[in-house]
Amino acid sequence: MAIRRCAFSLALMLLIPDGAPGVEEPCLLCHRAEEPAQQALLASPHGSLAHPRSPMAVGGCGGCHGESLAHLRRPTESPDLAFSATEALARRNERCLECHRDAALHWPASAHARAELACHDCHSAHEPSFPRPSADIRVEACLGCHVELRGALARPFNHPLGTGDFDCSACHDPHGAFERAALREVGRNETCYRCHADLRGPFLWEHRPVRENCGDCHAAHGSIHPGMLTARAPFLCQFCHLAQFHPSTLYSGTGLPGESRPSGSAFLLGQNCMNCHPAVHGSNHPSGARLTR
Ligand code: HEC
Ligand code: HEC
Ligand code: HEC
Ligand code: HEC
Ligand code: HEC
Ligand code: HEC
Ligand code: HEC
Ligand code: HEC
Ligand code: HEC
Ligand code: HEC
Repeated sequence: MAIRRCAFSLALMLLIPDGAPGVEEPCLLCHRAEEPAQQALLASPHGSLAHPRSPMAVGGCGGCHGESLAHLRRPTESPDLAFSATEALARRNERCLECHRDAALHWPASAHARAELACHDCHSAHEPSFPRPSADIRVEACLGCHVELRGALARPFNHPLGTGDFDCSACHDPHGAFERAALREVGRNETCYRCHADLRGPFLWEHRPVRENCGDCHAAHGSIHPGMLTARAPFLCQFCHLAQFHPSTLYSGTGLPGESRPSGSAFLLGQNCMNCHPAVHGSNHPSGARLTR
C-alpha cells in the first residue's frame, strides 16, 4: 500500500509547480494549502513536519484521514476516515487516541464518552483557533451544550471565568477524571486548594464543613450572594447551627453571650454571624476555638 501511495505521490508531484507548500503531499493538490482550513492545520502542531510524531510527519494528511487511495483516485469516493457524523464514533475517536492516550487516560469512563461526544466536537483540527483559543471562546464552547449553566455564570458573584487563562477546565477535566463531576483533583476540596492554597490548613481550630466540602457554603458556578455563598448569613450558618448556647435566631434579642441587657444590642440583632465569628474557615489563634478570631 505504502509503495503504491508513494508512487502515486511522485506522479502527482510532477503536476505541481516547484516550491509550492507541502508539494510532496498529494491531498494538497486539490485541497489547496491556501484554503483557510488547510492553512490552519499546517500551522498547528499537527501540521509540523519538525515534530517526529505529528500526523503530517508520520503519514501526511493520511496520518489522520488514512491513506484514502480510493478517494485519491476518485474524489467522489470517501476518504478512509472523513470524521463525518455518519462514521462510527469509535473509529473517529480511536484515531485521535492512538496518539493521545495519555491526555485522555480517563476518557473511556467519562461522562462525555458516555454522552457520545467526539474528540473533534471540541478540537476542530482545521480551525485557526486550534489548539488553544482564548479562554472566553473555550468557555462559550462548553456553554454551547451546558446551557443550564449560563444563568449561574451570569450571577454577580463568580470566578473570573473567560478572563486570562481561566476557563471551565481550571476545575474540570473534560476528558474525565477520578473525582465526581470530573473535578481535576482527587478529594472533594483538592481542586479548590490548587488556587486557594491558604485554606488548605491544617488549622489549630478547624471548622468541620470547610474540611469536608467547600460546596456546603459556596456555589462554584456563581451566586447572587457576596462571596459566592449559597445563602446569606445568618441563614447560611443556620442550615447546621440551630442549637448553640446563644440564640441562633438573632432576631429574638435575648440570651446573647456577654449581654446583660435582655434586649440585645443593635450590633447583634439581625447581624451577620461573621461579625463575631470571622474565622469561618478555621483559626490558628490560641483562643480561636469558637472561630471568633
Ligand atoms: C483529485 C482531487 C482530490 C484529491 C487528490 C484529494 N481530494 Fe479530498 N476531496 C476532493 C473533492 C472534490 C471533495 C468533495 C467531494 C464531495 O463533496 O463529494 C473532497 C472531499 C474530501 C473530504 C470530505 C469528505 C466528506 O465526506 O466530508 C475529506 C476529509 C478529504 N477530501 C480528504 C482528502 C485527503 C485526506 C486526501 C489525500 C489522501 C484528499 N482528500 C485528496 C478532491 C480531492
Ligand atoms: C489531526 C488530524 C487531522 C489531520 C492531520 C488532517 N485532518 Fe482533515 N480533518 C480532521 C478532522 C477531525 C476533520 C473533521 C472536521 C473538523 O472537525 O475540523 C477533518 C476534515 C477535513 C475535511 C473536510 C472539510 C470540511 O471543512 O468539512 C477535509 C477536506 C480535510 N479534513 C482535508 C485534510 C487535508 C488535505 C489534510 C492534510 C493537509 C488534513 N485534512 C489533515 C482531522 C485531520
Ligand atoms: C499521528 C499522531 C497524532 C494523531 C493521529 C493526532 N494527534 Fe493530536 N497531536 C499530535 C502531536 C505530536 C501533537 C503536538 C503536541 C505534542 O507534542 O504532544 C498534537 C497536538 C494535539 C493537541 C494540542 C496539544 C497541546 O499541547 O497544545 C490537541 C488538542 C490534539 N492534538 C488533539 C487531537 C485530536 C482531536 C485528534 C484526532 C482528530 C488528534 N489530535 C490526532 C499527534 C497526533
Ligand atoms: C468537551 C470538550 C472536549 C472533548 C470532547 C475532548 N477534549 Fe481534549 N481538551 C479540551 C479542553 C478544554 C482542553 C484544554 C485543557 C487544558 O487546558 O488543560 C483539551 C486538551 C486536550 C489536549 C492537550 C493536552 C493537555 O492535556 O493539555 C489533548 C491532546 C486532547 N485534549 C485530546 C483529546 C482527545 C484525544 C479527545 C477524544 C478522546 C478529546 N481531547 C476530547 C476539551 C475537550
Ligand atoms: C457537545 C456537547 C457538549 C460539550 C461541547 C461539552 N459538554 Fe460537558 N457534557 C455533555 C453531556 C451530554 C454530559 C452528560 C450529561 C450531563 O451530565 O449533563 C456532559 C457532562 C459534563 C460534566 C459532568 C461530568 C460527570 O462526570 O458527571 C462536566 C463536568 C462537563 N460536562 C464539563 C464540560 C466542559 C468543561 C466542557 C467544555 C470544555 C464541556 N463539558 C463541553 C455535553 C457536552
Ligand atoms: C471553580 C471551579 C469550577 C469551575 C470554574 C467550573 N466548575 Fe463545574 N463544577 C464545580 C464543582 C465543585 C461542581 C460540583 C461537583 C459536585 O457535585 O460535587 C461542578 C459541577 C459541574 C457539572 C455537573 C452537574 C452539576 O451542575 O452538578 C457540570 C456539567 C459542570 N460543573 C460544568 C461546568 C462548565 C461547563 C464550566 C464552565 C462554564 C464549569 N463547570 C466551571 C466546579 C467548577
Ligand atoms: C484556577 C484557580 C482557581 C480554582 C481552581 C478555584 N478558584 Fe476560587 N477564585 C479564584 C480567583 C482568581 C478568584 C477571584 C479572586 C478575586 O477576585 O480577588 C476566586 C474567588 C473565589 C471566591 C471568592 C469570591 C468573592 O466574591 O470574593 C470563592 C468563595 C471561591 N473562589 C471558591 C472556590 C471554590 C469553592 C473552589 C473549588 C470548587 C475554587 N474557588 C477553585 C481562583 C480559583
Ligand atoms: C461554613 C461555610 C463555609 C465553608 C464550608 C467554606 N467557606 Fe469560604 N467563605 C465562607 C464565608 C461566610 C465567607 C465570607 C464571605 C464574605 O466575606 O462575604 C467565605 C469566603 C471565602 C473566600 C473569599 C476570600 C476570603 O478568604 O474571605 C474564599 C476564596 C473562600 N471562602 C473559599 C473557600 C474554600 C476554597 C472552601 C473549601 C476549602 C471554603 N471557602 C469553605 C464560608 C464558608
Ligand atoms: C454544613 C454544616 C455547617 C454550616 C453551614 C456551618 N457550620 Fe459551623 N460547624 C459545623 C460543625 C459540624 C461544627 C463542629 C461542631 C462540633 O465539633 O461539635 C461547627 C463548628 C462551628 C463553631 C465552633 C463551635 C464549637 O463548639 O467548636 C462555630 C463558631 C461555627 N461552627 C460557626 C459557624 C458559622 C458562623 C457559620 C456560617 C458562616 C457556620 N458555622 C456554618 C457545621 C456547619
Ligand atoms: C455578638 C457576637 C456574636 C454573634 C453575632 C454570633 N455569635 Fe456565636 N458566639 C459568640 C460568642 C462570644 C461565643 C462564645 C465564644 C467562646 O466561648 O469563646 C459564641 C459561640 C458560638 C458557637 C459555639 C457554642 C456552642 O453552643 O456550640 C456557635 C456554634 C456559634 N456561636 C454560632 C453562631 C451562629 C450560627 C451565629 C449566627 C446565627 C452566631 N454564632 C452569631 C458571639 C456571637
